[in-house]
Amino acid sequence: METITKRNLLLNILNRFRSEGKVVGFVPTMGALHAGHIALVEKAKSENDIVVVSIFVNPTQFNNKNDLLHYPRTLERDEELLNNATCDFLFLPDVSEMYPNGVEEIMSPINLEGLDAVMEGAHRPGHFAGVIQIVKKLFDAVGTSKAYFGEKDFQQLAVIRKMVKEWKLPIEIVACPIVREADGLAMSSRNTRLKPEERKVASTISQTLFKAKELWKDHSVDELKKIVAELISSEKQLRLEYFEISDIQTLQAMKNGEKKNAVACIAVQLGEVRLIDNVVLG
Ligand code: PAJ
Repeated sequence: METITKRNLLLNILNRFRSEGKVVGFVPTMGALHAGHIALVEKAKSENDIVVVSIFVNPTQFNNKNDLLHYPRTLERDEELLNNATCDFLFLPDVSEMYPNGVEEIMSPINLEGLDAVMEGAHRPGHFAGVIQIVKKLFDAVGTSKAYFGEKDFQQLAVIRKMVKEWKLPIEIVACPIVREADGLAMSSRNTRLKPEERKVASTISQTLFKAKELWKDHSVDELKKIVAELISSEKQLRLEYFEISDIQTLQAMKNGEKKNAVACIAVQLGEVRLIDNVVLG
């Protein structure tokens, strides 16, 4: 695996491969890699000749300074995992490479048709603007490719698909299923920040979602919301930020009586750590 820190160099190298007819797969990450990330890399490897993984902790998508400050950084281990997953290029820019004019730069406007107004968008002001800003820059640095994203961040996936469509970018988005720990907890870089006693109760989040899926066919939206709030509050350490049942396409909240194409999304604060998860209800 070769590590590249400059955008122009990366694009030049990848363009050379493309001129030989090779196809490029791209996995953007913020590092602190786990099996969820590696599943994306392996899928990319199975569908492309060259795989690029980026590691960049993007300051503009953190609405909470403390979260950015404590975001886990484990570069040596990440490199080892990527080498084992036969990643070809690690793109590892620093902040000045991605934001040469500073992080306050003005972004091109984009109409996301409300995708960013709900859930993570409503609870983390500016988060999706930061995600769009960096993912556009990363896509530009990689060029024509297939890009792999996890359903763990269901709303992010919808926002990025919309961005690719609106700006007609030469990128094909590939969605990958959520990888979970044995007890059901969705893998996340932030899980490493949980204290042992918090880690024990963290699986209540996914178990509650699985229960919600079971109950969905004969319960209304409001009934399910009430049950989920009760299950989460039964664990003292968990604080429910939101639980929404949303339309899979528009991500807008579903009403009682609506049943088709629903996804249940949850955000929970556990100690210092904020965790999100989701399950498609059908
Ligand atoms: P990060 O949180 O590092 O996640 C990188 C990719 O891995 C995302 O597409 C995410 O959905 C996926 N992923 C994380 N945990 C997963 C799991 N348990 N199962 C499957 N996929 C999982 O998402 C970001 O970084 C950033 O917002 C980024 C897109 C890189 C822009 O900065």
